[in-house]
Amino acid sequence: MTRHPSINDRSFIVNTSTSPTRIALVTGAGSGIGRAVATALLDDGWSVVLAGRRAEPLQALAAQAVACGQVALAVPTDVTSPESVDALFATIEQRLGRLDLLFNNAGVNAPAVPMDELPLEKWFSVLNTNVTGVFLCARAAFGLMRRQSPQGGRIINNGSVSATTPRPFTAPYTASKHAVSGLTKSIALDGRAFNIVASQIDIGNALTELSERMTRGVLQANGSTAPEPMMDARHVADAVRHIAALPHCRWAPTFST
Ligand SMILES: NC(=O)c1ccc[n+]([C@@H]2O[C@H](COP(=O)([O-])OP(=O)(O)OC[C@H]3O[C@@H](n4cnc5c(N)ncnc54)[C@H](OP(=O)(O)O)[C@@H]3O)[C@@H](O)[C@H]2O)c1
Repeated sequence: MTRHPSINDRSFIVNTSTSPTRIALVTGAGSGIGRAVATALLDDGWSVVLAGRRAEPLQALAAQAVACGQVALAVPTDVTSPESVDALFATIEQRLGRLDLLFNNAGVNAPAVPMDELPLEKWFSVLNTNVTGVFLCARAAFGLMRRQSPQGGRIINNGSVSATTPRPFTAPYTASKHAVSGLTKSIALDGRAFNIVASQIDIGNALTELSERMTRGVLQANGSTAPEPMMDARHVADAVRHIAALPHCRWAPTFST
């Protein structure tokens, strides 16, 4: 079935005649790393739910997928909105029945200025997207993966080099990505009992809209300004598809007395 969505029509589903086996959700799927990962998962036979704020790139990717006989569902979503994330997961559960993989990828940056010059709304924008948005999607995925049968699934958070090491003038982004590391560890621990596994990729410099300015030179920790090497986002996609294909092992706690 192919439908043309409107702003009131939250989802756009294509080619559901194929019985989906493994179902993935990619946030920020309309561009950059999210788009590369969604494309790789589709090529690997996953049914992929594509989420992001802008409908058009999601629908274009879904249309491209169906043309290749793949299963895709574009669901325009703002990950900073609890209502929008709830609607996304309600759609996944109603239309596809379960979720096996969340690639928690949607993220934003702030202008590189000394922190005393940074408007507070930029701080909130980064934290709301990179931390609260990642938490809201992980929380909803955790709930669905816990409820579904067979129980379990995989959550891969997109961190950054900034999850461990800052660049100059990146306080909000660095703080947000450090928070993602804490969230990943908590999901990995809390998910054990429910066969929910969590991991994180901390990449540096895949060429995307977000990182393009680095090709022109960015401030370094030693005070110099230098362009940084970039890799193709498909290498990130290859890393994610590798993690996605790893086996799950149900955790069996053993306590010595
Ligand atoms: N590129 C790199 O070198 C690099 C390095 C380390 C980490 N990362 C991380 O990789 C992730 C993807 O970044 P990218 O480089 O691929 O940049 P990008 O092309 O700008 O992708 C960011 C994606 O997030 C989506 N997004 C932003 N705010 C959103 C919201 N509130 N709700 C839903 N979707 C939202 C955007 O789509 P809409 O605007 O349509 O919503 C966009 O598709 C980010 O988390 C970033 O921190 C990138």
